Amino acid sequence: MHRDLLGIRGLPKDDILRILSRSDHFISLLDQHTPPIYPDVLKNRTVANLFFENSTRTRSSFELAEKRLGATSLSLAMQTSSVVKGESLIDTLKVITAMGIDVVVVRHQSAGVAQLLRKHLKDSIRIINAGDGANEHPTQALLDAATLIEMFGSVEGKRLTIIGDIKHSRVARSNILLLSQLGMKITVVGPSTLIPREFGKVFGVSVEHNLDRALSQSDVVMALRIQRERQDRALFPNVQEFRDRYGITAKRCKAYPTLPILHPGPANRGVELDDETADSEHSMMYRQVTRGVAVRMAVLEWLYSE
Ligand code: CP
Repeated sequence: MHRDLLGIRGLPKDDILRILSRSDHFISLLDQHTPPIYPDVLKNRTVANLFFENSTRTRSSFELAEKRLGATSLSLAMQTSSVVKGESLIDTLKVITAMGIDVVVVRHQSAGVAQLLRKHLKDSIRIINAGDGANEHPTQALLDAATLIEMFGSVEGKRLTIIGDIKHSRVARSNILLLSQLGMKITVVGPSTLIPREFGKVFGVSVEHNLDRALSQSDVVMALRIQRERQDRALFPNVQEFRDRYGITAKRCKAYPTLPILHPGPANRGVELDDETADSEHSMMYRQVTRGVAVRMAVLEWLYSE
């Protein structure tokens, strides 16, 4: 069966559960400091990691996952590739895949890039979306779901509050699409300039502009970075005001001392969360990162499974 991971939209629930379950196996080995190594899974396969936008977590965890599954891994810094000389995205991808690539992991600033590549690349090439503009970031949502299930057992009926730059967040979109299928209730919080009109109706989530009211009804929160690189004008007065109204400050962290806090990273300390919050015992930031390696192994394995 041919499989791609272009987004959570279109990914059957059975496949979501299968990937999450398999990632539990991989994380159990990682937790015992036994790197899970299955060199036959991607033996004789070559994976190209093509990151047109910067990345620390996603790119390095894909590389680790690929190596542990026995793939040959090629990572190109697209900022230093011939793209800057004017070569088109499609031509660049055709050139790279002509070298005998089996899987393309792509991150790009344009929404829909994974679907576009699916139309232009040979059918035999499998594609994983590692984040396309403000559209989707499916492996982030899978690792967040794995982290939440590890905390709660079942997430059904739990309320997740996602805070901040909802408008530009592919993480928010993929998480909403995935976690709603698992029965989570979701509230998005932020200034009205950072939450698109109709977002609540389109995605079936609650919209709130008062963070303290939302926190009092939450089982878990996820803070998001303000994505200035996707904003062509100021969408809130200043960082200090944003922090006061929408930041998980040390004061808010103390007021809700048992509330788990997720952040996909990279985090801007002093903006969406304070040092005390990021480093608190309820911060799941580093657990999410560890989960990321296990989830990406599970996704790569799933691509070629029966
Ligand atoms: N969460 C996330 O996608 O982080 P990176 O940009 O570092 O990959």
